[in-house]
Amino acid sequence: MSTNPLSIVILAAGKGTRMQSALPKVMHKIAGAPMITWLLRTVEGLHPERVIVVVGPGMADLEKTVAPHKTVVQQKQQGTADAVSAALPLLSDFDGDVLILMGDTPLVSLTTLQNLIAARKGAGLSVLATALENPAGYGRVILGADDTLKRIVEDKDASPEERAVNLVNTGAFCIDGAKLAGWLQRIGNDNAQGEYYLTDLPQVAASQSARSRVCVTTDVAEVRGCNTRADLAALEYTAQQYLRHNAMLSGVTMIDPQSVYLQLDTQIAPDVTIDPHVVFGPGVEIATGAHIKSFSHVEGAKIGANVSVGPFARLRPGSEIGDDVRIGNFVEVKKSKIGARSKINHLAYVGDCLMGDDTNFSAGAITVNYDGFEKHRTVIGKGVMIGSNVNLVAPVHIDDGAFIAAGSTVTKDVPADALSIGRDASKIRKGWAAEYRRRKKALAEKLKSKKPA
Ligand code: UD1
Ligand code: CA
Repeated sequence: MSTNPLSIVILAAGKGTRMQSALPKVMHKIAGAPMITWLLRTVEGLHPERVIVVVGPGMADLEKTVAPHKTVVQQKQQGTADAVSAALPLLSDFDGDVLILMGDTPLVSLTTLQNLIAARKGAGLSVLATALENPAGYGRVILGADDTLKRIVEDKDASPEERAVNLVNTGAFCIDGAKLAGWLQRIGNDNAQGEYYLTDLPQVAASQSARSRVCVTTDVAEVRGCNTRADLAALEYTAQQYLRHNAMLSGVTMIDPQSVYLQLDTQIAPDVTIDPHVVFGPGVEIATGAHIKSFSHVEGAKIGANVSVGPFARLRPGSEIGDDVRIGNFVEVKKSKIGARSKINHLAYVGDCLMGDDTNFSAGAITVNYDGFEKHRTVIGKGVMIGSNVNLVAPVHIDDGAFIAAGSTVTKDVPADALSIGRDASKIRKGWAAEYRRRKKALAEKLKSKKPA
């Protein structure tokens, strides 16, 4: 590892035209987090002295996302070398290693970046390369006779022979900070795109008798760039593989990892089991021993120890599920706190609710939390029995130990240990069903006998 001080410049000013989007490219999400967030998380491990993100004009959301790191605005996008130049004012007093990363190559690993920095030792710069089966679109890394880096040629400027080279520039460079400004000044824009290419650096360095080194990674997926939505989907695939793998290494059982979708911020404790076909949105925390069953969708939820969720459950943002709770099939919970050991086993909706411990919320019961204008809260105490098909019309308070009879619509607060029953009393008519069937049959016989043969 390098002992030099390190500064990092991340290029993210591009509009990302090929994404066909109003959103800056690096704000597109991978496993729920903007691309740029992935990169910022990884580089933390390098303990840089400063991180500077080069953004385009009018990218306030991006600036907010990268804070507290510094941003500089590249006013006109005149190429990757021009983008690095925009960061120079923030590097004028810096002569350690400068690591330059492309904001649209977000999954590069810490180890690979450490290797790239180590490769710079004793040379003017190092470039991270990889061999691609289909190198189209990437800059090609042209090696000299002794396998040293001769130059990098952009796809659009390459000759047919150069295009056949499959060693490509991933876009990541490590450069001697003392030389950077002088070298950038020597880069022109006489090329197919009329842009200032950072990829001209090796030739400029050579003209100043500084050597360039190539650092090769064999992990093609980690250095894949994102230019189109199809690339974005490919990066999502890689990110999911990586997140699943990490979860399993930290003690999570996944029966079919390929069908479980995680987010960058998903936190799952050891000894949690995730069944096939489970999707996690942002902001999920799961404590040990929990079991998430198939076809459940969970987002913004904190799930306690030994909780069972699903199959077919939906936990929405603001759900806090206490230890040993059971959330069964076709249950939706939103912005609610559920006390320990409570059971919501089937077909229920619990929204804007505070539920105590050891309460049973039966099939078909719901909180009626919305009056068409506002949301209202339902407060349920401990050890309460909410019968089947109950409507709890909020705001309403059901105190500890109360019993709500099946089919009731509750509009008044219920005191502790009371029964609330709000439905028509059952009426019994003896013999009614038998008489009904007799009449129906007689009618059918009559109609049959009248039919012409
Ligand atoms: C670039 C490299 C290419 C490499 C590829 C790897 C150059 C000239 N080409 O090509 O050799 O194989 O990345 O993915 O460097 N950006 C700015 N300001 C600009 C232009 C670009 O900030 O004026 C940023 C973009 O936001 C993006 C990154 O730089 O994050 C790369 O730009 P892009 O236009 O995608 O370059 P490529 O054509 O992919
Ligand atoms: Ca690119």
